[in-house]
Amino acid sequence: MIIDIKPLELSKRGACPETYSFGADFSDHMFSQNFEQGSGWEKAEITPYHALTLDPSAAVFHYGQEIFEGLKAYRSFDGTINLFRPSENFKRFNRSAKRMAMPEIDGKFHLKALKALISLDHNWIPEQVGSSLYIRPTMIATGKKLGLGASDSYIHFIITGPAGSYFKGGFEPVSVYIADKYRRAVVGGVGEAKTGGNYAASLYVSEEVEKLGYSQVLWLDAVHGKYIEEVGAMNICFVYENKHIVTPALSGSILPGITRDSILKLAPALGFEVSEERLDIEQILADIKSGKITEAFGCGTAAVISPVGKLCWKGTDYIINNNKSGEISKQLYDELTGIQYGTRKDRFGWIE
Ligand code: COI
Repeated sequence: MIIDIKPLELSKRGACPETYSFGADFSDHMFSQNFEQGSGWEKAEITPYHALTLDPSAAVFHYGQEIFEGLKAYRSFDGTINLFRPSENFKRFNRSAKRMAMPEIDGKFHLKALKALISLDHNWIPEQVGSSLYIRPTMIATGKKLGLGASDSYIHFIITGPAGSYFKGGFEPVSVYIADKYRRAVVGGVGEAKTGGNYAASLYVSEEVEKLGYSQVLWLDAVHGKYIEEVGAMNICFVYENKHIVTPALSGSILPGITRDSILKLAPALGFEVSEERLDIEQILADIKSGKITEAFGCGTAAVISPVGKLCWKGTDYIINNNKSGEISKQLYDELTGIQYGTRKDRFGWIE
């Protein structure tokens, strides 16, 4: 399939400001293609960034048939543009599509479209280390119908925008509240799909814990209410005795994070042990109390690595590493961002 790139001018955007917030600015162009049952994907084009016109009866508004991805492009020290593991995002996009009864996309074509979009808007990629171009591939159901059933038409689009640190405090520890009354996802549900409803369902609880002074919610499994799943918009890792990194094993209700997977591959190469386990919250809290857990951090595309300084369980705070960011979190952050910005060896061939 051909991508129709209208006679568009290279984005002329000038120097980037010193700092960007996350997800508030958008580049000049976007990619989109449409799907119709019977015809498949067609009308692939890159156009100026624009509002979408949808019928109020479009299925996405009523039943939330929607999926998205998040990945980043980095300007490397020599000026080249680095995409970090984009093929993993497209694979996950298609897994999410399948779960949400949506059509899959051609991953190779999607990557080609993404590269064409980024080269047109490359002036939007910030130069400061810590900043990047955040890329948001999305698919929504556009079919006009209120009867419950999979839509027969969809738009798949990609927008991008310069992004700074996800958390305002940068590499400072976040405080986390462990949800005891609410659950994010259940095995067999859609917790491992990247679909908007998972995030919408977390907002009320996030607002409640913010009122208590915490910035993220840690979710426990929905069946027993005792096994750790993920934290806010990230996966979570605990470091035992400065050498062993442990993260919840994927259970079917946890988002299979690409940063999480990168850490599981990278950390052993840096000399750390890693394991994926079923983590009982009571055991984790006991291990924080006894000092066996020396660090904790969240990890995700948007946040990269975010140290966790405090976990609150039923009104009691459990402080990790004196509420300071730890050396191992920093070492992993430096190694990961070093690969992304091209200052460290890409030993796994993650840059495309
Ligand atoms: C990402 O890390 O890219 C995400 O999609 C999380 C999002 C809620 C910001």
